Amino acid sequence: MFYSPPCRHCGPHGCARYLADCHAQVRQAAVGFGAIDFRVANIMDYDPNTEGPWDLVVMSETICYLGWLYSLFDVVWLACQLLSATSFGGRLLMANTCAGVEDYLLRPWIIRTYRDLFPNVGYHREVEEIFHSTKNGVDIEVLISLFAKVSSTDSAK
Ligand SMILES: C[S@@+](CC[C@H](N)C(=O)[O-])C[C@H]1O[C@@H](n2cnc3c(N)ncnc32)[C@H](O)[C@@H]1O
Repeated sequence: MFYSPPCRHCGPHGCARYLADCHAQVRQAAVGFGAIDFRVANIMDYDPNTEGPWDLVVMSETICYLGWLYSLFDVVWLACQLLSATSFGGRLLMANTCAGVEDYLLRPWIIRTYRDLFPNVGYHREVEEIFHSTKNGVDIEVLISLFAKVSSTDSAK
């Protein structure tokens, strides 16, 4: 599992709150397996295959910064590496605020473009939903997508 520390801007009561439940459920589910590994790293410098395969990769409110600071090639390459490092039957959970905020990085059409990279490299989109919440009195929407690597033949082609 990759994990980004809570956002300094949003804090524990901001955009990370909705994922707390997910994390709690994952932790609970993992008790039987006894293994959740966290890594703190620049994901662009980290090769996920060196320690994989990973059962679950969580990428929350992060890809908009990668797309901002790195080339499209680098971000698509990352998506491909994550697929390669995901175990068969494993998942990638991605969540991104995409409406209700005045931030160019979070425009819905940009967020949907990032989302679409993952089916393009070979993940199967299992579930997608819009999480509705309120932040600082403003209604926001968060696009949450769950992707799966369903077979050993899933790979970027
Ligand atoms: C808006 S915060 C979101 C934090 C948390 N994941 C959440 O959902 O609340 C953006 C996060 O992206 C992470 N981030 C940005 N660029 C990164 C990179 N190159 N590698 C790893 N994490 C990165 C930062 O560490 C920061 O925690």
